[in-house]
Amino acid sequence: LPPQPDLDLAALVRTIPDFPKPGIQFRDITTLIGHAAGFAESVRRLSARAETYRPDFIVAVEARGFLFGAAMASAMGLGVVPVRKAGKLPGVTIGVDYELEYGVDRLELHEGAVEAGHRVVLVDDLLATGGTILATAELMRAAGAEVAAALFVIDLPDLGGARRLNEAGLPCETLIAFD
Ligand code: PRP
Ligand code: ADE
Repeated sequence: LPPQPDLDLAALVRTIPDFPKPGIQFRDITTLIGHAAGFAESVRRLSARAETYRPDFIVAVEARGFLFGAAMASAMGLGVVPVRKAGKLPGVTIGVDYELEYGVDRLELHEGAVEAGHRVVLVDDLLATGGTILATAELMRAAGAEVAAALFVIDLPDLGGARRLNEAGLPCETLIAFD
């Protein structure tokens, strides 16, 4: 598909109130990725930003991060490393517990999935409190990788994630923001 630099990605994200809990405004990317030009343009814009960090690998966070991270890695000619929820990866793992906007969870990485000294760019669909991506960065550093940046389609600035990442010294870029 040809580039569409003027395409409004925010208009393709659907908002569902009170999911998965009362009071949460859920920003649903299924409508964005179901739109061919919207998906292609999201991946193109993320990949263009990722290229500037010259990564060796793209690291994608389960589950919605897989959709964007895998497409980016393929477009960039890179491999993709999945960071998964507890109990999903079959090999020897390292793990970390973290808090979400609406719960608690655990993320895992295959031992040896990234080599010491590799530069990685982290990718997820959405930045809320930043807990998920900071846990992912912690896993990468435990594996000896250098985390160059974290990229997202959506930022929810009111939840403070971008500020937390900035305080932690992790460069972060997002395509669109919702209050
Ligand atoms: C969502 C989203 C991010 C995370 C952002 O994932 O896809 O990974 O929350 O929140 P945070 O910045 O407060 O950590 P979720 O855990 O709902 O899982 P899913 O992608 O498997 O649906
Ligand atoms: N992950 C964390 N908070 C979210 C929200 N408000 N919408 C979609 N995904 C989320």
